[in-house]
Amino acid sequence: MAVPPFDIAALRAKIPILERAIPLNNCSQAPLTSVTRDAAARYMESWNSRGMDWDEWMGEVELARRAFAAMINAEPDEVSVVSSVSAATSAIATAIDFGSGRDVVVASGAEFPAVGHVWKAQERRGARVRWVALRDGHVPLEMYEGAIDERTAIVSAAHAYYQNGAVQDVAAIARLARSHGALSYVDAYQSLGVLPVDVRAMDLDLLASGTLKYLMGTPGIAFLYVRRALVARLEPLTTGWFGRVNPFAFDATRLDWSASASRFDGGTPPIFPAYVSRAAMEWLHGIGSGAIAEWTQHLSTRLVEGALARGLSLHGPGLAVPKTPSTAILCEDAHAVESALRARGIIASARGPVIRLAPHFYNTVAEIDHALDALVEVLAEARTP
Ligand SMILES: Cc1ncc(COP(=O)(O)O)c(C=O)c1O
Repeated sequence: MAVPPFDIAALRAKIPILERAIPLNNCSQAPLTSVTRDAAARYMESWNSRGMDWDEWMGEVELARRAFAAMINAEPDEVSVVSSVSAATSAIATAIDFGSGRDVVVASGAEFPAVGHVWKAQERRGARVRWVALRDGHVPLEMYEGAIDERTAIVSAAHAYYQNGAVQDVAAIARLARSHGALSYVDAYQSLGVLPVDVRAMDLDLLASGTLKYLMGTPGIAFLYVRRALVARLEPLTTGWFGRVNPFAFDATRLDWSASASRFDGGTPPIFPAYVSRAAMEWLHGIGSGAIAEWTQHLSTRLVEGALARGLSLHGPGLAVPKTPSTAILCEDAHAVESALRARGIIASARGPVIRLAPHFYNTVAEIDHALDALVEVLAEARTP
């Protein structure tokens, strides 16, 4: 019987909701932990006791930047702190000149709408979006080969598909992009926290992620990695005073650009989410991305094999391609299934035609089996007239 390569009982003790529920909704919002609750309380305490403490608050934002950089093997000066992946994508998209002979954005059907919509919005600026189609719920690498050419400005790829967790080989996609002189942009929102991501080893140009899924943070903060060699040539049209060389210079008439990736920062930083997200990322970093990947991949296999053994229908290729632990099961009314599972103490996530079960490192094999048995019951009840 496989056991996790960490002290799962000690870690579970820090997740209060486990006393009354089985959270399997990490592809949507991971549970509150005592680690993140304490960090939130620290912000509230500093606000309450000192009225304001800009020095500490700016320091916390920098620590969050560092924690994210450590998660992806980047340097802090290659990371911008923004409010969402949509904002990160807009910052990058508006820094690209689509009138210079490279007007094509290659994106796929596996993009989250947040990203796809930002690329579509660039059509007003002369961009053409070339969509690579999904096939059986994922995008085979060779589909990119036919789509990228000398007119491609940037290739945008989700590391993992939000619908079913199918993982794309973003290192290979980035290599393809570069061989045609194009940039690579990776949305790692559905993979960071459960799969190791190393922007240097993967040789990525740009990467963005928020924190409320497997990174176990809150809404309101996201991060954008920009390869250092690219920073100086990208000037976004979406900006704010924190994108300046010195945000506290207070000269409204002078638009200078920070020499680091903070040139992509916007207005007043997401201070409160920075407290929470830093605490979550440092906690995960301490457990270790390799150990988390090992255990969550075990749970992922258990989920896929268990679903098939119980006669459930998977969305996408299952174990035929690499995947995150997020597993999607087709059902007629996913929202009704989500409610029925919740009534049984199982928190799952409906998305379109599927119910997603997305375990994290703290889940056990028994919880996976129990959730699958409950799902079979719920689906059977739905069929009973
Ligand atoms: C892959 C992916 N990208 C982006 C988002 C959301 O981006 P934003 O931070 O703009 O809300 C999500 C989920 O909400 C997602 O799953």
